[in-house]
Amino acid sequence: MAKFLGPIFLFLVLAGLVLCTADGTSRPGSYTLWEESDTVKVKIDKNDSAEKYKINFTDTSDGSTIKTWPEESFPISIKSFKPCHSYTVTFDPPCKSTTGFYKTRELFESDVNHTLKITGAKVQVCFETKWDLSKCIDIDISNSCTDYSVTFKGDPCKKSINFTLPPVKPVISYTNEFPTELRWDKKPSNCPKDLTYNCNGKH
Ligand SMILES: *[C@@H]1O[C@H](CO)[C@@H](O)[C@H](O)[C@H]1NC(C)=O
Ligand SMILES: *[C@@H]1O[C@H](CO)[C@@H](O)[C@H](O)[C@H]1NC(C)=O
Ligand SMILES: *[C@@H]1O[C@H](CO)[C@@H](O)[C@H](O)[C@H]1NC(C)=O
Ligand SMILES: *[C@@H]1O[C@H](CO)[C@@H](O)[C@H](O)[C@H]1NC(C)=O
Repeated sequence: MAKFLGPIFLFLVLAGLVLCTADGTSRPGSYTLWEESDTVKVKIDKNDSAEKYKINFTDTSDGSTIKTWPEESFPISIKSFKPCHSYTVTFDPPCKSTTGFYKTRELFESDVNHTLKITGAKVQVCFETKWDLSKCIDIDISNSCTDYSVTFKGDPCKKSINFTLPPVKPVISYTNEFPTELRWDKKPSNCPKDLTYNCNGKH
């Protein structure tokens, strides 16, 4: 069995070596990284396809690694990265850059979305971003309809983005008289008096 597999194994190793020097030199190539359309793009010099390479991005702050193989595919979504972080970049086959690391930009206001989540009596506002950052906060009578600056734990630039928190879900009492009257119990004092609710809970 070992005798039979030997030549096949040798062939695979040689094929691997040929692939690694596909550009005709044994010298490492160089690359450029940049962000475009919510993805991180890679350009290898000599017009080589980035798909041929395995790329590791190692976060210099905590050592966590984003690997293009086997975990991610090209183009690499910025959803895998955190803003304002430095990553050391390694290539297989080897490739070098002038800096050897990649720094992501700051968080922008347009990177952040917020949604209201209501689970039973619990009301939360969840902030989602285009990056690997998210956060939910509880809404109650004391903070509903107030201004809130959201910052994310994983953002070393501590970019804060302002939101006005929505009203806490009102407890509505129905009366049996006609026409139907709605009465709020516990209207948050910060909320404007003329605030009305429609079916999707927005005002
Ligand atoms: C690089 O590749 C692109 C498409 O694969 C091609 O259009 C272009 O002409 C190539 N450039 C060079 C310098 O080979
Ligand atoms: C990427 O990291 C893995 C281990 O996490 C390692 O086995 C592999 O050689 C690394 N690849 C590159 C291109 O640095
Ligand atoms: C925010 O939500 C909208 C609609 O659901 C979506 O199209 C957009 O991509 C989201 N943006 C972010 C940053 O998540
Ligand atoms: C966000 O709110 C703070 C005070 O809460 C204010 O100082 C700051 O200027 C606001 N930023 C923007 C971009 O509106």
